[in-house]
Amino acid sequence: MKCKKCDTTAVINMRQHKLALCGEHYLEWLPEQVERFIEKYRMFTRDEKVLMAVSGGKDSLGLWDILHRLGYHTEGLYIGLGIEQNYSDESRRLSEQFAAARGLTLHIVDVEDEFGATIPELSVISNRGHGKPCSVCGLNKRYIMNRAALEGGFDALVTGHNLDDEVAVLMQNTFNWAGGYLARQAPVLPAHDGLIRKVKPLCRIYEREMTAYCLVRGIEYIYEECPHAEGSTTIYYKEILNRMEGDRPGAKLQFYISFLQAKESGLFANAEQHVELHPCERCGQPTSAPGDCSWCRMWEKVKLAKKTVTMLG
Ligand code: AMP
Ligand code: FES
Ligand code: ZN
Ligand code: ZN
Repeated sequence: MKCKKCDTTAVINMRQHKLALCGEHYLEWLPEQVERFIEKYRMFTRDEKVLMAVSGGKDSLGLWDILHRLGYHTEGLYIGLGIEQNYSDESRRLSEQFAAARGLTLHIVDVEDEFGATIPELSVISNRGHGKPCSVCGLNKRYIMNRAALEGGFDALVTGHNLDDEVAVLMQNTFNWAGGYLARQAPVLPAHDGLIRKVKPLCRIYEREMTAYCLVRGIEYIYEECPHAEGSTTIYYKEILNRMEGDRPGAKLQFYISFLQAKESGLFANAEQHVELHPCERCGQPTSAPGDCSWCRMWEKVKLAKKTVTMLG
């Protein structure tokens, strides 16, 4: 297989785009694609300052590298979740190593250091998520990302969600006919009521395209999935979608683009719900709950539990 642009041996064959490229041309092509989507969906401009949420994985580190190469004004945010089996320690090391090698600023929020418990501990103490820390983890990540981006004066928060992630969520929401979620799923969520603008520049980039980018570019990232992800619904949908993609290259992209077009033409307009948000009485972050937000209530339980242990001890 030859590179379409220079006739040398191709390292990546993208059947979904009917395109094969050598390493050098691939490293040019992918950032061009990402920039095209940043502009098409009006995510952010070179005059704005954006906060890149990095997990140490290929998508977020690969994207940070692309944004840096394209000349966007970025700083990074790594959230230390305290996940076992060395997962958090290693992902933090790789994120720090990445930022240091490029002279980029990386902000770190470690939940145990700052708030007093790891995410798995918090999940047990708060008794949420049916024995799995994932929902507690998601709530904390969203809260910390929004707060850090607002407090740091950023214009937008960038995450590394790729096409495979977006299509798995889309399929799940379609199976449940979750109109509200479908109406809200988009490459850009505009800022409102104390929530920062959220953007996903990789929403049309396949996961394997990011793997290839990191390999060719020599970016070291964490290969392992979070140990708690095993058996998740998202992974189940991703497996089914991979089988469909194998039979019909381009199926995932087609599904996603048709969804965005259907939305554009108003298919989900009736499902859009406007939830009233107001500042939490304790922390000031936006919430729909009266009084304290669910994040504050969750951490109050931890403080209470720790106090009880100290008193009994
Ligand atoms: P996930 O929710 O793990 O699928 O990750 C989706 C995106 O959220 C990643 O591409 C990152 O942009 C961001 N993210 C996930 N985990 C972290 C973390 N520990 N710290 C900062 N950002 C994260
Ligand atoms: Fe949050 Fe796995 S990354 S529970
Ligand atoms: Zn080439
Ligand atoms: Zn609060």
